[in-house]
Amino acid sequence: MAASGAELSLRYRDRVAVITGGTKGIGEAMVKEFVKSGARVVFCSKDTEAKALENEIKAAGPGDCIYVCCDVTKEEDIKKLIEITVMNYGQIDCLINNAGWHPPEQTIDGTSADDFRDLLNLNLIGYFLTAKYALPHLRKTQGNIINISSLVGIIGQKHAIPYVATKGAVTAMTKAMAVDESRHNVRINSISPGNIWTPLWEELSSHSKNSEAMIQGGIDAQLLGRMGTAEECAKAALYLAAEGTFCTGIDLLLTGGAELNYANKSQHRAHSSIYH
Ligand SMILES: NC(=O)c1ccc[n+]([C@@H]2O[C@H](COP(=O)([O-])OP(=O)(O)OC[C@H]3O[C@@H](n4cnc5c(N)ncnc54)[C@H](O)[C@@H]3O)[C@@H](O)[C@H]2O)c1
Repeated sequence: MAASGAELSLRYRDRVAVITGGTKGIGEAMVKEFVKSGARVVFCSKDTEAKALENEIKAAGPGDCIYVCCDVTKEEDIKKLIEITVMNYGQIDCLINNAGWHPPEQTIDGTSADDFRDLLNLNLIGYFLTAKYALPHLRKTQGNIINISSLVGIIGQKHAIPYVATKGAVTAMTKAMAVDESRHNVRINSISPGNIWTPLWEELSSHSKNSEAMIQGGIDAQLLGRMGTAEECAKAALYLAAEGTFCTGIDLLLTGGAELNYANKSQHRAHSSIYH
């Protein structure tokens, strides 16, 4: 019997995904997309309560979800997140490391070693530890990990040295993990988004003296003339988890072309004199 349209859209039916930072922005959209495609999802944040969101996503179905309060800077919380997933759903097919933060503008002179260490703990070591505790289960299912990195980890960004360093490291760590885990047929990939309109972007722009100009600058950075959406990130993640079965160690640029178009960027002078 031919599969119905509804069955065909259940691209991750009965698979189990763990998504960190799933209560807002890109993470929330990924939880929704995976549950919509039939997956059972455990999602976390360090917020103490997300029952309403859990109920809303469960009700929409057809998959299932559980919210767990877990601060990914705490190793014990991460162990608990993985234990709860396996206790409830029996297996793990996909881990999406997404929980992260971009601090407001930071110069090197105004940044302490502790500021840098705190961000490394969240954006990098958190990804490492969640992978470490999920991998024994991912090896059994020949599953996959998706690390949410950032375009700026490749091309840099003004006043964001610690953030750029953590994301560059996430992209590099993804490749190193892909090499080691290939013998278990576990695929490890990263997605590097450019500007995606989320509560994080909104929060960052609220710190600017001219929020409107900052948002317009964020829009103009893409060849496509707009920011990406959290839903577009979620669709890319579902592709890597469900159909990208020959992808490992890749970094999927989800940027609207932000890295293209060799152009004048010097911060030294307003006008370049090379043509005069
Ligand atoms: N929005 C963008 O333009 C953009 C671009 C490139 C990369 N990213 C990356 O995408 C990821 C998600 O970004 P977003 O814009 O959706 O952010 P967001 O602030 O809108 O959402 C972040 C989520 O992570 C959770 N979180 C934060 N700290 C946590 C902790 N210690 N433990 C557990 N959960 C925690 C938050 O509760 C929230 O659910 C981040 O890793 C970010 O660096 C975002």
